[in-house]
Amino acid sequence: MRLIIAIDGPSGAGKSTLSKALAAELGYTNIDTGAMYRAVALLATRRQIRLDDAQALRQLCRQMQLVFKRSGNEERVLLDGEDISAAIRAPEVSLLTSKVAACAAVREELVRMQQQLGKEGGVVLEGRDIGTVVFPQAEIKFFLSASAKERGRRRFEELQAKGMDVDLQQTIEEVRVRDAADSSREHAPLCRADDAIDIDSTALGIDQVLALMLGIVKERLARGLPGDLG
Ligand code: DC
Repeated sequence: MRLIIAIDGPSGAGKSTLSKALAAELGYTNIDTGAMYRAVALLATRRQIRLDDAQALRQLCRQMQLVFKRSGNEERVLLDGEDISAAIRAPEVSLLTSKVAACAAVREELVRMQQQLGKEGGVVLEGRDIGTVVFPQAEIKFFLSASAKERGRRRFEELQAKGMDVDLQQTIEEVRVRDAADSSREHAPLCRADDAIDIDSTALGIDQVLALMLGIVKERLARGLPGDLG
């Protein structure tokens, strides 16, 4: 039995790290849906497409070739063959991505792609609307959160480690701005599924959260599917 596991939550709660680690432990494919929205934002900027031009953005989604490639512990995102893993993490791209993610046409296209990628199971998908929109039938849904201050601090350290020149207060503020945009947008705002399992990672380390998640997954696998004889 290969499950569909959804990890939703606000930015900086640890979704990416945990999603990758959980997928690696289970031998599942990890799908970073935020990277898909980021790739659209990057490409739209490069092609000078206005972010309110829904038709042009839809076309762009349909044409782009996005590939996730794992090499060892590293996950790379290739856009039309070019490695854009670093470029999509730049703070200015993060801000633009919130706007792109508010476009219904973009969401429609990317949700379709995500459903295609995950339909066979054996996947961990991380995002904002996985448990509510992309895979409401996912066998396990986690909603991972942490305080805005802690999430800002983590993002700051991450960017600093990559050699970027960032400011702590400004990074915390950017997290808050993005939270507000992600929660208040008209289409698929960030919200938890009724049947999601809540995990607050403010005071927990990655290993502790991973152990918690793995315990839940193993318990679910041991129960099997309803009517599953194997
Ligand atoms: O998880 P992240 O920080 O890489 O996400 C980047 C942006 O994309 C963020 O503004 C939220 C948005 N997003 C979304 O709207 N739906 C998703 N499934 C994933 C990300």
